Amino acid sequence: MTLVKVALGARSYDIHIEAGLLARAADFVAPLSRGRTMAIVTDGNVLPHLETLQASLTAAGVASEAIVLPPGEGTKSWAQLESLTDRLLELGIERGDHVIALGGGVIGDLVGFATSILKRGCGFVQIPTTLLAQVDSSVGGKTAINSRAGKNLVGAFHQPAMVLIDPAVLDTLPLREQRAGYAEVVKYGLIDDFAFFEWCEANAPALLAGDPDARVHAIAHSVAAKARIVAEDERETTGKRALLNLGHTFGHALEAETGFSDKLLHGEGVAAGMALAFAYSARLGLCPGQDAERVVAHLGAIGLPNGLASAGISASGETLVDHMLHDKKMDAGTLPFLLAHGIGQTFLDKSVDLADVAAFLDTQPRA
Ligand code: GLY
Repeated sequence: MTLVKVALGARSYDIHIEAGLLARAADFVAPLSRGRTMAIVTDGNVLPHLETLQASLTAAGVASEAIVLPPGEGTKSWAQLESLTDRLLELGIERGDHVIALGGGVIGDLVGFATSILKRGCGFVQIPTTLLAQVDSSVGGKTAINSRAGKNLVGAFHQPAMVLIDPAVLDTLPLREQRAGYAEVVKYGLIDDFAFFEWCEANAPALLAGDPDARVHAIAHSVAAKARIVAEDERETTGKRALLNLGHTFGHALEAETGFSDKLLHGEGVAAGMALAFAYSARLGLCPGQDAERVVAHLGAIGLPNGLASAGISASGETLVDHMLHDKKMDAGTLPFLLAHGIGQTFLDKSVDLADVAAFLDTQPRA
Protein backbone atom coordinates (compact mmCIF):
# COMPACT_ATOMS: atom_id res chain seq x y z
CA MET A 1 0.00 0.00 0.00
CA THR A 2 1.31 3.43 -0.93
CA LEU A 3 0.13 6.33 1.19
CA VAL A 4 0.37 10.01 0.23
CA LYS A 5 -0.78 12.71 2.63
CA VAL A 6 -2.30 16.03 1.63
CA ALA A 7 -1.33 18.38 4.46
CA LEU A 8 -4.02 21.03 4.80
CA GLY A 9 -4.44 21.44 8.56
CA ALA A 10 -7.96 20.50 9.60
CA ARG A 11 -8.74 19.56 5.97
CA SER A 12 -5.80 17.12 5.66
CA TYR A 13 -6.46 13.73 4.09
CA ASP A 14 -4.84 10.54 2.90
CA ILE A 15 -4.52 9.14 -0.61
CA HIS A 16 -4.26 5.33 -0.59
CA ILE A 17 -2.91 3.62 -3.71
CA GLU A 18 -2.88 -0.13 -4.31
CA ALA A 19 -3.92 -2.53 -7.07
CA GLY A 20 -7.09 -4.32 -5.95
CA LEU A 21 -7.96 -1.63 -3.40
CA LEU A 22 -11.53 -1.27 -4.64
CA ALA A 23 -12.39 -4.77 -3.44
CA ARG A 24 -11.41 -3.80 0.09
CA ALA A 25 -12.57 -0.18 0.00
CA ALA A 26 -14.75 -0.84 3.06
CA ASP A 27 -11.59 -1.18 5.21
CA PHE A 28 -11.14 2.57 4.70
CA VAL A 29 -14.66 3.83 4.09
CA ALA A 30 -16.66 1.89 6.70
CA PRO A 31 -15.30 3.95 9.62
CA LEU A 32 -16.83 7.04 7.93
CA SER A 33 -20.30 5.45 7.67
CA ARG A 34 -21.41 6.02 11.29
CA GLY A 35 -23.67 2.99 10.92
CA ARG A 36 -25.73 4.80 8.27
CA THR A 37 -26.47 4.09 4.61
CA MET A 38 -23.73 5.50 2.35
CA ALA A 39 -24.62 7.13 -0.97
CA ILE A 40 -22.42 6.20 -3.93
CA VAL A 41 -22.63 8.44 -7.01
CA THR A 42 -21.33 6.92 -10.21
CA ASP A 43 -22.04 6.65 -13.94
CA GLY A 44 -23.23 3.92 -16.27
CA ASN A 45 -19.69 3.29 -17.59
CA VAL A 46 -18.33 1.87 -14.35
CA LEU A 47 -21.10 -0.45 -13.14
CA PRO A 48 -18.69 -3.40 -12.63
CA HIS A 49 -16.64 -1.20 -10.27
CA LEU A 50 -19.84 -0.21 -8.47
CA GLU A 51 -20.60 -3.90 -7.91
CA THR A 52 -17.12 -4.47 -6.46
CA LEU A 53 -17.45 -1.48 -4.15
CA GLN A 54 -20.93 -2.41 -2.94
CA ALA A 55 -19.84 -6.02 -2.32
CA SER A 56 -17.00 -4.75 -0.14
CA LEU A 57 -19.36 -2.47 1.82
CA THR A 58 -22.01 -5.17 2.23
CA ALA A 59 -19.42 -7.65 3.52
CA ALA A 60 -18.43 -5.06 6.12
CA GLY A 61 -22.07 -4.56 7.15
CA VAL A 62 -22.38 -1.12 5.54
CA ALA A 63 -25.58 -0.43 3.59
CA SER A 64 -25.22 1.64 0.43
CA GLU A 65 -27.48 3.33 -2.10
CA ALA A 66 -26.18 3.87 -5.65
CA ILE A 67 -27.08 6.89 -7.76
CA VAL A 68 -26.14 6.14 -11.38
CA LEU A 69 -25.82 9.19 -13.67
CA PRO A 70 -25.33 9.36 -17.44
CA PRO A 71 -21.66 9.22 -18.47
CA GLY A 72 -20.12 12.27 -20.19
CA GLU A 73 -19.32 15.93 -19.73
CA GLY A 74 -23.03 16.85 -20.06
CA THR A 75 -23.55 15.49 -16.54
CA LYS A 76 -21.62 18.43 -15.06
CA SER A 77 -24.76 20.56 -15.46
CA TRP A 78 -27.13 22.62 -13.35
CA ALA A 79 -29.87 20.07 -14.11
CA GLN A 80 -27.83 17.11 -12.85
CA LEU A 81 -26.64 19.12 -9.85
CA GLU A 82 -30.25 19.87 -8.95
CA SER A 83 -31.45 16.29 -9.30
CA LEU A 84 -28.40 14.92 -7.47
CA THR A 85 -28.81 17.26 -4.51
CA ASP A 86 -32.55 16.47 -4.40
CA ARG A 87 -31.78 12.76 -4.36
CA LEU A 88 -29.15 13.12 -1.63
CA LEU A 89 -31.63 15.13 0.46
CA GLU A 90 -34.27 12.42 -0.07
CA LEU A 91 -31.75 9.90 1.20
CA GLY A 92 -31.40 12.03 4.33
CA ILE A 93 -27.69 12.79 3.90
CA GLU A 94 -26.45 14.79 6.88
CA ARG A 95 -23.47 17.10 7.28
CA GLY A 96 -21.53 14.39 9.07
CA ASP A 97 -22.06 11.87 6.25
CA HIS A 98 -19.67 11.07 3.42
CA VAL A 99 -20.90 10.61 -0.14
CA ILE A 100 -18.72 8.39 -2.33
CA ALA A 101 -17.77 9.64 -5.82
CA LEU A 102 -16.93 6.59 -7.94
CA GLY A 103 -15.91 7.55 -11.48
CA GLY A 104 -13.80 9.89 -13.58
CA GLY A 105 -13.41 13.64 -13.39
CA VAL A 106 -17.04 14.36 -14.27
CA ILE A 107 -18.39 12.40 -11.30
CA GLY A 108 -15.68 13.68 -8.94
CA ASP A 109 -16.24 17.32 -9.90
CA LEU A 110 -20.04 17.07 -9.69
CA VAL A 111 -20.15 15.18 -6.38
CA GLY A 112 -17.48 17.45 -4.92
CA PHE A 113 -19.52 20.53 -5.79
CA ALA A 114 -22.85 18.99 -4.70
CA THR A 115 -21.39 18.06 -1.32
CA SER A 116 -19.82 21.50 -0.91
CA ILE A 117 -23.29 23.06 -0.93
CA LEU A 118 -25.46 20.27 0.52
CA LYS A 119 -26.51 21.43 3.98
CA ARG A 120 -23.72 24.02 3.62
CA GLY A 121 -21.15 21.28 3.22
CA CYS A 122 -20.94 17.57 3.90
CA GLY A 123 -18.15 15.06 3.41
CA PHE A 124 -17.15 13.06 0.34
CA VAL A 125 -14.69 10.38 -0.66
CA GLN A 126 -13.06 10.19 -4.08
CA ILE A 127 -12.63 6.79 -5.74
CA PRO A 128 -11.32 7.81 -9.20
CA THR A 129 -11.58 5.29 -12.04
CA THR A 130 -9.71 7.07 -14.86
CA LEU A 131 -5.98 7.82 -15.00
CA LEU A 132 -6.72 11.52 -15.38
CA ALA A 133 -8.89 11.57 -12.26
CA GLN A 134 -6.39 9.42 -10.34
CA VAL A 135 -3.42 11.72 -11.00
CA ASP A 136 -5.14 15.09 -11.07
CA SER A 137 -8.81 15.88 -10.58
CA SER A 138 -9.56 13.69 -7.53
CA VAL A 139 -6.84 15.43 -5.51
CA GLY A 140 -6.80 19.05 -4.42
CA GLY A 141 -10.44 19.95 -3.94
CA LYS A 142 -11.29 21.78 -7.17
CA THR A 143 -14.96 21.00 -7.89
CA ALA A 144 -17.27 22.43 -10.53
CA ILE A 145 -20.06 22.15 -13.03
CA ASN A 146 -20.19 23.76 -16.46
CA SER A 147 -22.40 26.74 -17.25
CA ARG A 148 -23.71 28.16 -20.52
CA ALA A 149 -20.75 30.55 -20.50
CA GLY A 150 -18.12 27.80 -20.29
CA LYS A 151 -16.51 24.84 -18.62
CA ASN A 152 -15.97 24.63 -14.85
CA LEU A 153 -17.20 28.21 -14.35
CA VAL A 154 -19.42 27.41 -11.33
CA GLY A 155 -17.72 25.60 -8.51
CA ALA A 156 -16.00 25.61 -5.15
CA PHE A 157 -12.90 24.42 -3.37
CA HIS A 158 -14.03 21.44 -1.30
CA GLN A 159 -11.49 18.85 -0.21
CA PRO A 160 -12.41 15.15 -0.05
CA ALA A 161 -12.00 13.29 3.24
CA MET A 162 -10.02 10.54 1.52
CA VAL A 163 -8.94 9.38 -1.94
CA LEU A 164 -8.80 5.65 -2.76
CA ILE A 165 -6.89 4.82 -5.94
CA ASP A 166 -6.98 1.33 -7.42
CA PRO A 167 -4.67 1.29 -10.48
CA ALA A 168 -6.11 -2.07 -11.55
CA VAL A 169 -9.39 -0.41 -12.55
CA LEU A 170 -7.45 1.11 -15.47
CA ASP A 171 -7.39 -2.35 -17.09
CA THR A 172 -10.81 -1.60 -18.56
CA LEU A 173 -10.10 2.04 -19.48
CA PRO A 174 -9.80 2.63 -23.26
CA LEU A 175 -6.22 3.31 -24.40
CA ARG A 176 -7.19 6.74 -25.73
CA GLU A 177 -8.35 7.77 -22.24
CA GLN A 178 -5.24 6.30 -20.65
CA ARG A 179 -3.09 8.38 -23.00
CA ALA A 180 -5.14 11.49 -22.22
CA GLY A 181 -4.60 10.87 -18.50
CA TYR A 182 -0.90 10.34 -19.14
CA ALA A 183 -0.65 13.95 -20.33
CA GLU A 184 -1.35 15.02 -16.73
CA VAL A 185 1.32 12.57 -15.48
CA VAL A 186 4.13 13.86 -17.69
CA LYS A 187 2.98 17.40 -16.84
CA TYR A 188 4.49 17.00 -13.34
CA GLY A 189 7.89 16.26 -14.91
CA LEU A 190 7.63 19.24 -17.24
CA ILE A 191 6.64 21.58 -14.40
CA ASP A 192 9.56 21.10 -12.02
CA ASP A 193 10.95 17.57 -12.09
CA PHE A 194 13.36 16.78 -14.92
CA ALA A 195 14.21 13.37 -13.43
CA PHE A 196 10.53 12.39 -13.51
CA PHE A 197 10.29 13.52 -17.14
CA GLU A 198 13.20 11.17 -17.92
CA TRP A 199 11.38 8.39 -16.04
CA CYS A 200 8.31 9.11 -18.18
CA GLU A 201 10.31 8.96 -21.40
CA ALA A 202 11.65 5.56 -20.39
CA ASN A 203 8.53 4.08 -18.81
CA ALA A 204 5.46 5.56 -20.52
CA PRO A 205 5.12 2.59 -22.90
CA ALA A 206 5.10 0.14 -19.96
CA LEU A 207 2.70 2.36 -18.03
CA LEU A 208 0.25 2.50 -20.93
CA ALA A 209 0.60 -1.25 -21.47
CA GLY A 210 -0.64 -1.75 -17.90
CA ASP A 211 2.59 -2.59 -16.09
CA PRO A 212 1.49 -2.61 -12.40
CA ASP A 213 4.74 -1.19 -10.96
CA ALA A 214 4.91 1.59 -13.55
CA ARG A 215 1.30 2.49 -12.79
CA VAL A 216 1.82 2.72 -9.05
CA HIS A 217 5.02 4.73 -9.49
CA ALA A 218 3.43 7.17 -11.95
CA ILE A 219 0.30 7.67 -9.85
CA ALA A 220 2.08 7.96 -6.50
CA HIS A 221 4.70 10.37 -7.89
CA SER A 222 2.00 12.49 -9.54
CA VAL A 223 -0.29 12.76 -6.52
CA ALA A 224 2.67 13.42 -4.21
CA ALA A 225 3.71 16.30 -6.49
CA LYS A 226 0.16 17.62 -6.55
CA ALA A 227 -0.24 17.22 -2.78
CA ARG A 228 2.92 19.30 -2.21
CA ILE A 229 1.72 22.08 -4.48
CA VAL A 230 -1.84 22.10 -3.09
CA ALA A 231 -0.51 22.17 0.49
CA GLU A 232 1.45 25.31 -0.42
CA ASP A 233 -1.30 27.10 -2.34
CA GLU A 234 -4.69 25.46 -1.81
CA ARG A 235 -6.74 28.20 -3.49
CA GLU A 236 -4.35 29.16 -6.29
CA THR A 237 -3.59 32.56 -4.82
CA THR A 238 0.23 32.65 -4.71
CA GLY A 239 0.95 31.42 -8.23
CA LYS A 240 2.32 28.05 -7.07
CA ARG A 241 -0.84 26.02 -7.82
CA ALA A 242 -1.17 27.85 -11.12
CA LEU A 243 1.85 25.81 -12.29
CA LEU A 244 -0.55 22.86 -12.50
CA ASN A 245 -2.22 24.70 -15.37
CA LEU A 246 0.76 24.12 -17.68
CA GLY A 247 -0.62 23.58 -21.17
CA HIS A 248 -4.14 24.45 -20.06
CA THR A 249 -4.37 27.95 -21.57
CA PHE A 250 -3.38 26.82 -25.06
CA GLY A 251 -5.29 23.57 -24.43
CA HIS A 252 -8.44 25.43 -23.38
CA ALA A 253 -8.44 27.30 -26.70
CA LEU A 254 -8.12 24.03 -28.63
CA GLU A 255 -10.86 22.39 -26.56
CA ALA A 256 -13.13 25.41 -27.09
CA GLU A 257 -12.46 25.30 -30.84
CA THR A 258 -13.49 21.63 -30.91
CA GLY A 259 -16.59 22.36 -28.81
CA PHE A 260 -15.33 20.56 -25.66
CA SER A 261 -16.27 17.35 -27.43
CA ASP A 262 -14.84 13.88 -27.97
CA LYS A 263 -12.92 15.31 -30.93
CA LEU A 264 -10.30 16.40 -28.41
CA LEU A 265 -10.31 15.00 -24.87
CA HIS A 266 -9.18 17.31 -22.08
CA GLY A 267 -5.88 15.47 -21.63
CA GLU A 268 -5.28 15.59 -25.38
CA GLY A 269 -5.84 19.37 -25.34
CA VAL A 270 -3.40 19.64 -22.41
CA ALA A 271 -0.80 17.59 -24.30
CA ALA A 272 -1.00 19.79 -27.39
CA GLY A 273 -1.13 22.83 -25.10
CA MET A 274 2.08 21.82 -23.30
CA ALA A 275 3.84 21.28 -26.63
CA LEU A 276 2.72 24.75 -27.74
CA ALA A 277 3.75 26.33 -24.42
CA PHE A 278 7.27 24.92 -24.87
CA ALA A 279 7.42 25.88 -28.54
CA TYR A 280 6.28 29.42 -27.68
CA SER A 281 8.84 29.63 -24.86
CA ALA A 282 11.53 28.61 -27.36
CA ARG A 283 10.31 31.24 -29.85
CA LEU A 284 10.62 33.88 -27.11
CA GLY A 285 14.20 32.74 -26.46
CA LEU A 286 13.27 31.63 -22.93
CA CYS A 287 13.80 27.91 -23.44
CA PRO A 288 16.36 25.92 -25.50
CA GLY A 289 14.80 24.81 -28.78
CA GLN A 290 16.01 21.26 -28.13
CA ASP A 291 13.91 21.06 -24.94
CA ALA A 292 10.80 22.11 -26.84
CA GLU A 293 11.61 19.55 -29.56
CA ARG A 294 12.10 16.84 -26.92
CA VAL A 295 8.67 17.55 -25.41
CA VAL A 296 7.01 17.51 -28.83
CA ALA A 297 8.80 14.27 -29.75
CA HIS A 298 7.86 12.49 -26.52
CA LEU A 299 4.17 13.41 -26.71
CA GLY A 300 4.07 12.38 -30.36
CA ALA A 301 5.78 9.05 -29.60
CA ILE A 302 3.06 8.30 -27.03
CA GLY A 303 0.38 9.01 -29.61
CA LEU A 304 -0.80 12.25 -28.06
CA PRO A 305 -1.49 15.44 -30.04
CA ASN A 306 1.65 17.61 -29.91
CA GLY A 307 0.59 20.65 -31.92
CA LEU A 308 -2.29 22.24 -33.82
CA ALA A 309 -2.21 19.77 -36.73
CA SER A 310 -2.37 16.60 -34.64
CA ALA A 311 -5.04 18.21 -32.44
CA GLY A 312 -7.13 18.64 -35.62
CA ILE A 313 -7.11 22.45 -35.44
CA SER A 314 -7.30 24.60 -38.55
CA ALA A 315 -8.47 27.85 -36.93
CA SER A 316 -6.42 31.06 -37.10
CA GLY A 317 -4.28 32.33 -34.24
CA GLU A 318 -6.74 35.19 -33.73
CA THR A 319 -9.67 32.78 -33.32
CA LEU A 320 -7.75 30.68 -30.83
CA VAL A 321 -6.67 33.72 -28.80
CA ASP A 322 -10.29 34.83 -28.78
CA HIS A 323 -11.17 31.53 -27.05
CA MET A 324 -8.46 32.24 -24.50
CA LEU A 325 -10.16 35.50 -23.52
CA HIS A 326 -13.01 33.40 -22.10
CA ASP A 327 -10.62 31.39 -19.92
CA LYS A 328 -11.56 31.57 -16.24
CA LYS A 329 -7.97 32.49 -15.40
CA MET A 330 -8.42 35.95 -16.98
CA ASP A 331 -7.30 38.47 -14.40
CA ALA A 332 -8.14 42.16 -14.86
CA GLY A 333 -7.62 42.01 -18.62
CA THR A 334 -4.46 39.89 -18.56
CA LEU A 335 -4.14 36.16 -19.04
CA PRO A 336 -1.41 34.44 -17.01
CA PHE A 337 0.57 31.95 -19.11
CA LEU A 338 2.70 29.04 -18.01
CA LEU A 339 5.99 29.22 -19.91
CA ALA A 340 9.26 27.36 -19.41
CA HIS A 341 12.98 28.00 -19.17
CA GLY A 342 13.45 24.30 -19.94
CA ILE A 343 12.06 20.88 -19.09
CA GLY A 344 11.25 20.95 -15.36
CA GLN A 345 11.52 24.75 -15.22
CA THR A 346 7.99 26.08 -15.72
CA PHE A 347 7.07 29.56 -14.54
CA LEU A 348 4.07 31.89 -14.54
CA ASP A 349 4.25 34.89 -16.86
CA LYS A 350 1.60 37.61 -16.57
CA SER A 351 2.99 39.83 -19.31
CA VAL A 352 2.37 37.73 -22.39
CA ASP A 353 1.23 39.75 -25.41
CA LEU A 354 -1.83 37.98 -26.84
CA ALA A 355 -1.26 39.47 -30.32
CA ASP A 356 2.18 37.82 -30.28
CA VAL A 357 0.61 34.52 -29.17
CA ALA A 358 -1.76 34.75 -32.15
CA ALA A 359 1.18 35.47 -34.48
CA PHE A 360 3.04 32.44 -33.03
CA LEU A 361 0.01 30.19 -33.51
CA ASP A 362 -0.21 31.34 -37.15
CA THR A 363 3.32 29.98 -37.70
CA GLN A 364 2.32 26.50 -36.52
CA PRO A 365 1.36 23.74 -38.98
CA ARG A 366 -2.40 23.13 -38.89
CA ALA A 367 -4.79 20.41 -39.82
N1 GLY B 1 -5.92 20.62 -12.28
C1 GLY B 1 -5.31 21.77 -11.76
C2 GLY B 1 -5.48 21.95 -10.29
O1 GLY B 1 -6.05 21.09 -9.65
O2 GLY B 1 -5.08 22.96 -9.77
